[in-house]
Amino acid sequence: MISERLKSVIRDIPDFPKPGIIFKDVTPIFKDAQLCTEVIEAFVEQLKGTKVDVVAGIESRGFLFGLMLANKLGVPFIPVRKPGKLPFTIVKKSYELEYGSASIEIHTDAFEPGSHVLIHDDLLATGGTAQAAAHLVTELGGVVAGFAFVIGLDFLNGRKSLDTFSENIVSLTS
Ligand code: PRP
Ligand code: MG
Repeated sequence: MISERLKSVIRDIPDFPKPGIIFKDVTPIFKDAQLCTEVIEAFVEQLKGTKVDVVAGIESRGFLFGLMLANKLGVPFIPVRKPGKLPFTIVKKSYELEYGSASIEIHTDAFEPGSHVLIHDDLLATGGTAQAAAHLVTELGGVVAGFAFVIGLDFLNGRKSLDTFSENIVSLTS
């Protein structure tokens, strides 16, 4: 099972980046090429029946599988970036994070209005980041096709903040 395979390599790092936070370190996944392939295959399987025109990956850990998934699906990848990184015209959304506050940006020409945009990130915690991405997608006239996470931390109720955009919320492990 992909969930158990992921659990066996993802490391819990206590008190990072701040005391009281248990950080999920996904870097060991990327050392295992076969596991990376299985992650993408699992996403594709769970997204069967979902219309996806574009994959939006959230900086920075959402870039890693985001591009691989877009490529596997044969659709464009677009980056949702931290402030000041995108060079063209942008729209911006601020949000509360599990630790602090932040904002993200997207290019105004990232996709055509009406596109079905799959939002990908490595981890769903409070849902603040993915929710902000969903706001940006809808602001630009896109349809949120769903959300795809490697890890979904259900105890933080992240799903609740997303299901007004789409109830199609996929996660491979918890
Ligand atoms: C982490 C993680 C998700 C987000 C999840 O990213 O990669 O993007 O937090 O938290 P939330 O559901 O409570 O919003 P972080 O902002 O630490 O940055 P990084 O991906 O660049 O490491
Ligand atoms: Mg992140």
